[in-house]
Amino acid sequence: MGIPGDEILSRVATGDGHGENTSYFDGWKAYDNDPFHPIHNPNGVIQMGLAENQLCLELMQDWITKNPQASICTKEGVSEFKAIANFQDYHGLPDFRKAIAKFMEKARGGRARFDPERIVMSGGATGAQETIAFCLANPGDAFLIPTPYYPAFDRDFRWRTGVQLLPIRCHSHDNFKITEAELAAAYRKASDSKIRVKGILITNPSNPLGTTMDRETLRTLVRFANEERIHLVCDEIFSGTVFDGPEFVSVAEILQEDPSICDGDLIHIVYSLSKDLGVPGFRVGIIYSYNDAVVSCARRMSSFGLVSTQTQRLLASMLGDDDFTTDLLAESRRRLLHRHRAFTAGLEGVGIRCLKSNAGLFCWMSLKPLLKDATAEGEVKLWRVIVDEVKLNISPGSSFHCTEPGWFRACFANMDEETMETALRRIRTFVRRANEAATAAKTKKRWDTALRLSLPRRLEELTVLTPRLMSPRSPLVQAAT
Ligand SMILES: Cc1ncc(COP(=O)(O)O)c(C=O)c1O
Repeated sequence: MGIPGDEILSRVATGDGHGENTSYFDGWKAYDNDPFHPIHNPNGVIQMGLAENQLCLELMQDWITKNPQASICTKEGVSEFKAIANFQDYHGLPDFRKAIAKFMEKARGGRARFDPERIVMSGGATGAQETIAFCLANPGDAFLIPTPYYPAFDRDFRWRTGVQLLPIRCHSHDNFKITEAELAAAYRKASDSKIRVKGILITNPSNPLGTTMDRETLRTLVRFANEERIHLVCDEIFSGTVFDGPEFVSVAEILQEDPSICDGDLIHIVYSLSKDLGVPGFRVGIIYSYNDAVVSCARRMSSFGLVSTQTQRLLASMLGDDDFTTDLLAESRRRLLHRHRAFTAGLEGVGIRCLKSNAGLFCWMSLKPLLKDATAEGEVKLWRVIVDEVKLNISPGSSFHCTEPGWFRACFANMDEETMETALRRIRTFVRRANEAATAAKTKKRWDTALRLSLPRRLEELTVLTPRLMSPRSPLVQAAT
């Protein structure tokens, strides 16, 4: 018999800090239960809630075919099997770190320099976020974060570390830009509540906005961090997905241009190959810190999430091929631009507006006109209909902590062109029918008013029951492909 009141599992195990019970992950479950397939399940749910980059995978496949010696699982590379299978140094293979540093420079247009000695491995950016939180903050400490933000930060940065995330409010009227006033207000609010702020966490380019941060905003954040002696963690996981101007500015460039702007010990970059290369399954995450103590602590912690040596070896070879990475990044941007244009044009065709964006694997679209009531609940209701009836898993803004209802994130790079066209057809049908229903509802209202003025009460009741009039309460339709 246990001691009364004593749980047999930990608070971490029994709590819901993982965030799995949110609409963000619910949508994934809806897809898993009924996944779309053009032939076997044409009425299934299309996954638009997953920021995956599948547009250039065949280019990597071609490279691997042409370079069999890069893998220890081929007859050309198997002679290295023993050495690679035994290697377990948490510094990683020197060639891997060199190749990653070079690739990070290239993804930033060659404008930033990275020192291979500061490259620390982790299990994806997911692991990198947690490691950096462990290095910089104690349980109960807080990081400020602009909204809307990537929902899984609540898991990655907070769950096991006990660190809090406090919002910096951003608004659609200025394209969700981070303002100094809102930054200072968030900082003051935390201080007034006696919460110790240890830093600011940003994602640049932004997930879910798909926008790059302008140089001045970035400088404001760096200066603020320096003045308050707090950290600035920049998640630059989407740096190689910038497909249109303005060009991406990394925090590394800001420091390089003007080293006096900030104590480098306060600046840290999180990166991964999950988005720019489209290999989330490889679990390659990077912590790049300008702080020696953080580099050394993170490296020790990386024992919990090393990148397997055979993956390191393959990538050292692939990313060490200069011509290949130059062509790959250029082609990836070209395809992303093409896909983005096709998708946003399709949405504009039915009057759906997206935030103007130039990066990422998704659009931040406004479905405000389709909300029955402009609240977070109204947004979730609309989202449920879109998942259950239109059969598209897009993600509601509230799951990104967006404070304005009606915004949704739709991913467009994790599918082929035909599937995207099917998704657009479904959206078009849905919006058209919703608009028709709204028009019918308005007409009915006008009729009702007119009849109320001219008919006796009994006849008015009959009119309301007329079946030909569409109910304004059910403008929603089954998905059509
Ligand atoms: C902003 C951001 N950071 C981190 C991650 C996690 O990436 P990884 O697959 O490398 O763990 C994601 C994934 O979507 C992301 O969007």
